[in-house]
Amino acid sequence: MRTAGAADRNSIVSETIPSADHQVYVKPDNVHAETVVSVEHYTDRLFSFRITRPQSFRFRSGEFVMIGLPNAAKPVFRAYSVASPAWDEELEFYSIKVPDGPLTQHLQKIRPGDTVLMRPKPTGTLVVDALTPARRLWMIATGTGFAPFASLLRDPETWEKFEEVVVTNTCREAGELAYGTKIVRDLEADPLIGELVIGRLRYIATTTREETSAMGRITTLIETGKLFEMASCAPFSADTDRIMICGSLDMIRDVKALVEKAGLVEGSNSQPADFVVERAFVG
Ligand code: A2P
Repeated sequence: MRTAGAADRNSIVSETIPSADHQVYVKPDNVHAETVVSVEHYTDRLFSFRITRPQSFRFRSGEFVMIGLPNAAKPVFRAYSVASPAWDEELEFYSIKVPDGPLTQHLQKIRPGDTVLMRPKPTGTLVVDALTPARRLWMIATGTGFAPFASLLRDPETWEKFEEVVVTNTCREAGELAYGTKIVRDLEADPLIGELVIGRLRYIATTTREETSAMGRITTLIETGKLFEMASCAPFSADTDRIMICGSLDMIRDVKALVEKAGLVEGSNSQPADFVVERAFVG
């Protein structure tokens, strides 16, 4: 029997994989079997993990891939934004834990050494290529919607294309901001990005349910103008601002409406423009 692991990690041919429940499943065709390197839990709803990266796997910072577990003959796959930058030798993901979520009820229990399945094709619209050049890039995140921005913030290309970046992170409770806050804090010490970031990044983190010093839904902050006060800059303008939005469907719909009201036009890979959106995936 061949087991999946670091030695096999570039293989996407059929093989069998022992799973956490000690059953052995045949790996689906055309799927990478990768090894969990580390896992970090932030709250009872959120965690991140890192896996080995297949040498053949290329992606653009901000894109997502399909992730699954070797725990069934036909494993459940869910879309996950890669949270690590394109240059990183491992792949990082940031996930919600849903108690009865078809994937995350199991995924939240992974440990270093376990196997995670990954489909080989990355895709997505939260890429700098889908935006036309401008002075300032806004990254607007709620919940696990921060994941693609964790990737983009750590990619030099983002800092080459934009003079300033404002990243917002809104969660129900303060503990849920921890992952994003750590990514932002570590940026200045990053050997590749550190010097590029100094004086060019603003981080605005708010809560909506737990009482903290900075509160408010991102939609309210935009509508009242408080966001622009907090960021010390003018309201959204198609002349100066480009915007990426990632969070729940409702949040995307509502922020998109405000951004369009400000005159910005939605872009895509084939037709770059002023803003792009992507749903943060659940389950
Ligand atoms: P709220 O606590 O008022 O629901 P979730 O954890 O459910 O994904 O939510 C993440 C954050 O997104 C929460 O702070 C939540 O605020 C906020 N949120 C949910 N829906 C919207 C929306 N339509 N517009 C703006 N923010 C939203």
